[in-house]
Amino acid sequence: MAFLGIDIGTSGAKTLAIDPTGKILASDLQEYPCYTPKPLWSEQNPDDWWNATVKTVRNVLKKTRLKPADIKAIGLSGQMHGSVFLDKKDNVIRPAILWNDQRTVAECREIEISAGGRETLVQLVANPALTGFTAPKILWLRNNEPKHFEKLHKVLLPKDEIRRRLTGEYATEVSDASGMLLLDIANRNWSTQLLSALQLDRDLFGRVYESEDVTGQLTPIAAKQLGLTTNCLVVGGAGDCAAGAIGNGIVNEGVLSTSIGTSGVMFVYSNEMKIDPLGRVHTFCHAVRGKWHLMGVNLSSGGSLQWFRNALCQELLEKAKKKKADVYDWLTAEAEKTPPGSEGLYFLPYLSGERTPHADPFARGCFVGLTLLHGRGHLVRSIMEGVTYSMRDSLEIFQGLDIPVKQIRASGGGSKSPLWRQIQADVFGQRVVTINSEEGPAFGVALLAAVGTGTFKNIQEACNAVIKVVKETKPNNKAKKIYNNAMPVYQNLYCSLKNDFKKL
Ligand code: XUL
Repeated sequence: MAFLGIDIGTSGAKTLAIDPTGKILASDLQEYPCYTPKPLWSEQNPDDWWNATVKTVRNVLKKTRLKPADIKAIGLSGQMHGSVFLDKKDNVIRPAILWNDQRTVAECREIEISAGGRETLVQLVANPALTGFTAPKILWLRNNEPKHFEKLHKVLLPKDEIRRRLTGEYATEVSDASGMLLLDIANRNWSTQLLSALQLDRDLFGRVYESEDVTGQLTPIAAKQLGLTTNCLVVGGAGDCAAGAIGNGIVNEGVLSTSIGTSGVMFVYSNEMKIDPLGRVHTFCHAVRGKWHLMGVNLSSGGSLQWFRNALCQELLEKAKKKKADVYDWLTAEAEKTPPGSEGLYFLPYLSGERTPHADPFARGCFVGLTLLHGRGHLVRSIMEGVTYSMRDSLEIFQGLDIPVKQIRASGGGSKSPLWRQIQADVFGQRVVTINSEEGPAFGVALLAAVGTGTFKNIQEACNAVIKVVKETKPNNKAKKIYNNAMPVYQNLYCSLKNDFKKL
């Protein structure tokens, strides 16, 4: 008996198989392109997701030698907020518009006005209108491609389009649906009030399930394509942030995960629905039945260091290629030689604008405080520190809402660096731990699939059985003090520069 987790990411699809004890049996990743037909647009072709899904499932079966009937259930995860527009015959009307697409500034304003103001909007769906979310994309279609809008029969999120192709069902689940800006987050179903204010038909959307609920089983055609059987069930699954958090065991009060990938995510569990009245962090339904989570998203976290490496370290990159070494290791070693606080150098990581805590597409990246003393090590350290300060912004908002944070679990590529883990512990002023699994969203939804078929009583039981803390990084008191003094300076820099950013 085994379960599959499938994650429809932005750079590729990943499928992973686990056994009933949660042990990972195999995984496979297939990449696909992302298109930018105009500046700030970001689109993908749902057929690419599907082809990659079929390939990865078949490859995982080959790698494990599992038999078709062994796979009892599939959990789906995927990039959040993307819109797949379907006509009556389930044809894709136009390429899907993704989470990092910025074309909908006007539609966000239109939503606020139609809802009766930003405050009312936050009361209805717990969040303000952000360009990346799904609802503004539907309005963009209506405003800019009316011929396409006329044909519109259903709007699905990326992983839910894969669900439709697997099961024939139009369905979603609470965690991903939360990011559409159309879900009544308190009642875990579509907000009839907002849908009517926006003149959108409820039938455009699929049925909403809890993440571990079974939403259907494979159609004969899908089963044949994947090499599985029609007895294979498909559970709700989760948006990639909630799915990654499940994979990190963020299923109880007091536990928070930090993730440093291209973007950075601070994700905290909550027993109650708590909303930041200023809308700086997102409040979404969690993939844990009847629970919620809050989340701060920074758009350029590991991406800031990646930019530095690619833009300014060409020579090192070539040298590393020859020596088969990793430039990040060399840069980190240089950063390690400089003291906490980077001797007065600050980095603002707003290279792609920002989401949390400043939902500001005009914000820009900066180094502030350069002197003749500063070298490459300082620049690298200040990037790591600036990214971590921006994560502390989210932590402070959570704490201001009385959300307990007793344990911080670090994950993502950035957290593999001991230096960046130490900076996290020092900037957060708390112990930072890492866990035994590094498999991310696909692992989280494979566990949900196991729960959905009754292998575990609930997702907490599954996580407790499978996920263990393996490493701990304690804060250093001296560094903690330096960062406590630096934080207000960092926070003030955005306030000082925000009007100038608009002029740039
Ligand atoms: C979350 C978000 C991204 C996408 C892409 O709000 O926009 O993390 O889910 O992975």
